Amino acid sequence: MVRVVTGDVGPFKLLRLDDDEIRYFESLWLIPEGITYNAYLLPTREGWALFDAWKVGYGKEFIEALSSVVEPSKIRYLVIHHMEPDHSGTVKALLEENPGIEVLGHPMTKSMLESFYGLTPKFRVVRDGEELRVGEYTLKFIYAPWLHWPETIFTYVKEARALLTCDAFGAYSIPSKVFDDELGEEELERYRFWTRKYMATVIGHYLPFVGKAIKKVKDLGLDIGMILPSHGLVWRRPSEIIKYYERWSAGESVSGVKKVVVVYGSMYGFVEAAVKEAIKSLQGEGVLHVTYRFVDDHRDEMSDLMGDLINASGIILGTATYEAGIHPLMKFVVDLMIEKIPKNKSVLIITNYGWGGVAGKLLKKTLEGAGYRVHSVIEFRAGHLEKNKEAIREAVKSFIKSL
Ligand code: FEO
Repeated sequence: MVRVVTGDVGPFKLLRLDDDEIRYFESLWLIPEGITYNAYLLPTREGWALFDAWKVGYGKEFIEALSSVVEPSKIRYLVIHHMEPDHSGTVKALLEENPGIEVLGHPMTKSMLESFYGLTPKFRVVRDGEELRVGEYTLKFIYAPWLHWPETIFTYVKEARALLTCDAFGAYSIPSKVFDDELGEEELERYRFWTRKYMATVIGHYLPFVGKAIKKVKDLGLDIGMILPSHGLVWRRPSEIIKYYERWSAGESVSGVKKVVVVYGSMYGFVEAAVKEAIKSLQGEGVLHVTYRFVDDHRDEMSDLMGDLINASGIILGTATYEAGIHPLMKFVVDLMIEKIPKNKSVLIITNYGWGGVAGKLLKKTLEGAGYRVHSVIEFRAGHLEKNKEAIREAVKSFIKSL
């Protein structure tokens, strides 16, 4: 059952919907950990400003939660940072309550409001870098294109030292608290994984824009005391989440520990036996390794795999040749890697075939074409593991050195 969390976030009032009913974010990514949609209210001497809303389908809950804090008629401005319906989906319900609200946003937001929801509210386009005085506060709008859509903007509220970023600096999961510094290390460590999973799956295609936005914000010299995203925790240690986003979006590890992700699909155990030989060789080599497997009685989650791939140093891919190509599940993995994962990784490929090897060559060509470094390909006929064990061990050793 969804749950509403309200509370003070500096001068803002948080309206957070904890959604544990969702199963697949964007109807694609399995998230048993759930997600939150955070909206923020700012009371000012000139009325209230609202920043973003909730997911489509929760209009009634949104109006109830909002009304428990302030009469909707007292809202003067609605700032829309991003039009994806997990944030804009309850704007219609809000405007039905108070049609006089002035909506502020990127020029594209106006037409999206009309096309998505048939809404034509009083709308003010904000320009990149523009400042607007609202009562005792100065709102500075910063364009942050492709985080996660082209119309995305951030707002910096100067007097509150607060940066509102919508998707950016967000994460999956339903944190037990509102602020990052209220979480114990164990929960925070889990949250870091859900942050990586969220980054890779939701904004993975646009990762270079994370670095660009961070540079833009740093160049503006803003004094940031707090980051208020629209998913997950509010950060009172903004440099922490900025560091995670900066490093992971570049495909790097934050801890400095080298990680190898082993991912394989095995239909009848031949590939699995070969990959297990590689895993044995990884042990005791000072690298962390995580394994994801697609076999006939078990299937790990693609969405979790993405969270592990993003900051990996190396990837070991195992697959069989399948219908003169790559096993379809492993092909999906490779497609996702190409679409969403930084290419600064070394890849070791292990493949088997029944009567003719295709997958190895195809994977090498595809991955190199996309910008990955393919360390080596070990491809052999199913059943011939014994005579290839030494080659696997040697390849893994040299692969680790290459990381
Ligand atoms: Fe959370 Fe791109 O929406």
